[in-house]
Amino acid sequence: MNHFLDIHKTSPDDLRQIIDQAAQMKSARAGRPKGTPDDDQPLAGRMVALIFEKPSTRTRVSFDVGVRQMGGETMVLSGKDMQLGHGETIADTARVLSRYVDLIMIRTFDETVLTEMAEYSDVPVINGLTDRTHPCQIMADIQTYEEHRGPIKGKKVVWTGDGNNVCASFLHAAGQFGFDLTFTGPSQLDPEEEFIGLARQAGSTITIERDAAKAVAGADLVVADTWVSMHDSQSSKERRHNMLRPYQVNDALMAHAKPDALFMHCLPAHREEEVTSAVMDGPQSVIFDEAENRLHAQKAVMRWCLDV
Ligand code: CP
Repeated sequence: MNHFLDIHKTSPDDLRQIIDQAAQMKSARAGRPKGTPDDDQPLAGRMVALIFEKPSTRTRVSFDVGVRQMGGETMVLSGKDMQLGHGETIADTARVLSRYVDLIMIRTFDETVLTEMAEYSDVPVINGLTDRTHPCQIMADIQTYEEHRGPIKGKKVVWTGDGNNVCASFLHAAGQFGFDLTFTGPSQLDPEEEFIGLARQAGSTITIERDAAKAVAGADLVVADTWVSMHDSQSSKERRHNMLRPYQVNDALMAHAKPDALFMHCLPAHREEEVTSAVMDGPQSVIFDEAENRLHAQKAVMRWCLDV
């Protein structure tokens, strides 16, 4: 069964197929009203459960719209309103949902909820974000980079700030798509060693550089993310901001990157914190293309999961 749990758990050939299909599907419906169906309807008659145990704007709307464009139907479920949030086991929930729906997307806290859901589900499961990874976001980011600048293989990507779940999926993608990644941030917030090791084993050059200006030198892509993620305690906010302030992406930092470097942020952003509005709204920013490509990349992920 084709679960989409993490980028490093999906083969490079399958990842490439998904990205290419996402690009084709995007161009096939260019200029059409958002509510119109795609010409082909690969999800006709299919029901998709979208489970959220954390807030979401992009993931929720892009999956919902994507399923409808492909002819399917969705059921958006809040984890806390399900028996899942009141003691029913994940395994039993997975077995029951498999009797009703054809595909499950889940956004949750602990990665084991996702992996247990996949283990006991008879239908494919998609990772819509856990505390540890966010693979759908990075599929959209790869699509976005390539539509602006061509193949990402061999490029230098610089991650600034917190080595969080989105950074983890970028590391997985570095190994699978063949680009190099430099992390710049405080040592307390380094990405997981395991994920750095995986990318290195796959042949990517992974660099840790504490000096943000040195890190960004020669970058093809600079990426920022919020300094306080959904799973971080609000009481840590001031301490994290103090640690992360030197890693803000602003015009001065972007000036160290290649002149045609792109800027990405998965959103939601905290303007004037991890990134200035001048960069977010500037000519190198592709943040809203990234957000749009969540729709196209996830449509291709769902087709791959269902083999349709
Ligand atoms: N980037 C992202 O996953 O956005 P949401 O939290 O709004 O879904």
